[in-house]
Amino acid sequence: MSVEIALTPPPQKSERKFVFSDHEDGANVGENNAIIATLLRVISILLIVITLPFSLLFTVKVVQEYERAVIFRLGRLVKGGARGPGIFFIIPCIDSYCKIDLRTVTFDVPPQEILSKDSVTVAVDAVVYYRISNATVAVTNVADYGMSTRLLAATTLRNVLGTKNLSELLSERESISHMIQSSLDVATDPWGVKVERVEVKDVRLPQQLQRAMAAEAEASREARAKVIAAEGEQKASRALKEAADVIADSPAALQLRYLQTLSSIAAEKNSTIVFPLPMELFKGYLTK
Ligand SMILES: *[C@@H]1O[C@H](CO)[C@@H](O)[C@H](O)[C@H]1NC(C)=O
Ligand SMILES: *[C@@H]1O[C@H](CO)[C@@H](O)[C@H](O)[C@H]1NC(C)=O
Ligand SMILES: *[C@@H]1O[C@H](CO)[C@@H](O)[C@H](O)[C@H]1NC(C)=O
Repeated sequence: MSVEIALTPPPQKSERKFVFSDHEDGANVGENNAIIATLLRVISILLIVITLPFSLLFTVKVVQEYERAVIFRLGRLVKGGARGPGIFFIIPCIDSYCKIDLRTVTFDVPPQEILSKDSVTVAVDAVVYYRISNATVAVTNVADYGMSTRLLAATTLRNVLGTKNLSELLSERESISHMIQSSLDVATDPWGVKVERVEVKDVRLPQQLQRAMAAEAEASREARAKVIAAEGEQKASRALKEAADVIADSPAALQLRYLQTLSSIAAEKNSTIVFPLPMELFKGYLTK
């Protein structure tokens, strides 16, 4: 038995009803707008001229060396790009403008818990330096370039670090910072934001892993120490064997060594008398 469900498409709303229709009307509206805009402009300029000494207070604006002003006249971008530094003019009532600071801004990326490629959880934080490279674009293309850059920096950090294993995370910070910087810069380019620098501040490992790594390092050091000691013994025994061979070659050498030992004992413990008893005397008894 089968159940068939017939999906009927939802009834389509007639959108055209609510849309201002077509090109001829649009062109008309555009023309009308242009006329109104010109009218408003003329009136505003007249007003400025009439109230001249005082109107300067409202028409002349100043931005600092490090700032730019993006001007909108009746909602449209004014041609010629952002104004500044120094003074610029606006027409009150029909112009609005916003100031953009071009200086480098720094922010902290809060610590991010990241799972590295070899499944270790690490907490990483970073510092990002950026500045506005194009004030016009920063105003028109993004609502809040600072916030957007912050959020994007956090996610880019996670994405880039997620592709690295632990040893790379710890040893290649320089190149990782570089990688984050370039991919962040590409992403923020449409916002007029130039990411100058990214520094990975800290890579924090979980406590247990820290302990394990410390134990591993200690063990490997101990192993090395043992190998070195063993090598020393090997060399020493070889040297001893050579010495023994030399002594065995000539019996007189043994006698000399014997006397030397006696003299050193005599120097150290001068109250003790050592009487050497040559073993050769007992040879006759020992062989029997
Ligand atoms: C800023 O961007 C706009 C639009 O892309 C462009 O026309 C303008 O030349 C740019 N300004 C600078 C200073 O690069
Ligand atoms: C980490 O990755 C690199 C290259 O991707 C590789 O050469 C290295 O052996 C890896 N290390 C570990 C501990 O997996
Ligand atoms: C014996 O040795 C002691 C020190 O160990 C020293 O003071 C003393 O003079 C020595 N005696 C002789 C006879 O060399």
